[in-house]
Amino acid sequence: MTATAANPLAEGLERQPIRPTTLTIFGATGDLSRRKLLPALYNLAHEGALPERFNLVGSSRADMPHGDFREMAATAIRQFSRRKPDEQVLAALLDDARFVPGSFDDPDVYDEIRRIEDELETAAGISFNRAFYLSTAPAFFPVIVKKLGEHGLQSKDDGEVRVVIEKPIGTNLAEAKQLNRDVLDVLEERQVFRIDHYLGKETVQNMLAFRFANGLFEPIWNRNYVESVQITAAEDLGIGGRAGYYDHAGALRDLVQNHMLQLLTLLCMEPPTSFSADDVRDEKVKVLHAIHAPDPDPAKVAEMAVRAQYGPGVVGGEQVPGYRDEEGVPPDSKTPTYVALALEVDNWRWAGVPIYLRTGKRLARKVTEIAVTLKPVPHLAFDQEGSVGVQPNQIVLGVQPNEGVTISLGAKIPGSRMRIRPVNMEFLYGTAFLSESPEAYERLITDAMRGDATLFTRDDEVEAQWTICDPILAGWAEDDSPLPTYEAGSGGPAEADRLLREGERWRAI
Ligand code: BG6
Repeated sequence: MTATAANPLAEGLERQPIRPTTLTIFGATGDLSRRKLLPALYNLAHEGALPERFNLVGSSRADMPHGDFREMAATAIRQFSRRKPDEQVLAALLDDARFVPGSFDDPDVYDEIRRIEDELETAAGISFNRAFYLSTAPAFFPVIVKKLGEHGLQSKDDGEVRVVIEKPIGTNLAEAKQLNRDVLDVLEERQVFRIDHYLGKETVQNMLAFRFANGLFEPIWNRNYVESVQITAAEDLGIGGRAGYYDHAGALRDLVQNHMLQLLTLLCMEPPTSFSADDVRDEKVKVLHAIHAPDPDPAKVAEMAVRAQYGPGVVGGEQVPGYRDEEGVPPDSKTPTYVALALEVDNWRWAGVPIYLRTGKRLARKVTEIAVTLKPVPHLAFDQEGSVGVQPNQIVLGVQPNEGVTISLGAKIPGSRMRIRPVNMEFLYGTAFLSESPEAYERLITDAMRGDATLFTRDDEVEAQWTICDPILAGWAEDDSPLPTYEAGSGGPAEADRLLREGERWRAI
């Protein structure tokens, strides 16, 4: 039975067929590949959503024969897949997987990939599209793309070639521009798929459905009705074993420059003329351009940005160390693990509406949500007692873990008196669709293999995101005032309150 026949509410979850594809993962033995990419491929195989003819090639510096790679991949899938693997499906996915060991600047690696591709095509008697997934340290992105070009792997007469690039795209605007130039020296933009895995999340895509498939919200989605917006991406986890990366990145580069600005653009963009990749991305870029980058003067940056670092505390009932005591972090590190920003989108629709962003590691719990607070009603005719509980309506788009939409409404408390209090009207994904949302990477890998770039970031989009973040980073670099701290397991630093207007509060985490 297909998923739809078993569950009619899951209609739309079926996928379009994809042309035969050989997918090569560079960095195939790394953390991202083991935790996300290989399990995603397994789940796609399980649902019959991979191309009917599909070849998997892994490459990395690990020196292992094909068989060991298959074993490593199977172990990773057993450990990290969202569903328990069916051994037959697993074997079908991995039995003919190949591995090419070598460093990413070694020409032999690319010759060998070419040889394997030719061999697989000859055996199958058909041509395959080529997809490359760059799941490596960012320093290798330009190296690999250049080598693909030098070995003629960047295009194909009888098929399409697509290259998926992981984040980060640079650590500032200049680097992002350089990387985009390097990549576009070899490939055309339509072949490039820059990952922002938040765009693969069902609930993030639902923002588009919510806004543009309902007549109810669009009339109020503007400065006349919206008082403020809060976008939160809080995490309870610390930095795990990623000190080497994180201490150079910090919260602004790690989450704001990409995921949070993506949430903001989807929330604020104008309706696109179509849902084609470029129509959607054109509208998103316009939003980014409408956000005024701050003056890099530290005092100006401090007016719209707060950074902080977590100290020791208790998370989930366990005592955890402060950031500076994490393994691999210098004891005098000034890297922010928390950022709050007050932004404005200066256009006709949003001028004057504060859009607050905040993200942090080691906060009280994991929650990603967008809360849109409407303006208060203009006149309250209730007597004083009834008025007490009247609150402005709030529309909360829950990205995770409560996937859904909640609207708070003022309702009369049953009884003889007219007393009001907020109640919630809720739509929850799990209940409405009776199905578990696929992992973001499942959707993104299939879209890239299909050539649909709607959920990937375009070159100008990434650059516009850095244009907003660069001056903040520059202001902080000049600012030697002490870095605020917050207790691990808390709701974040009190300093973040100063970004809010009078009478406003951050939502509880
Ligand atoms: C990644 C960041 O891009 O996103 C991580 O590098 C962060 O630091 C992660 O934890 C959060 O993703 P998710 O899907 O768990 O919200």
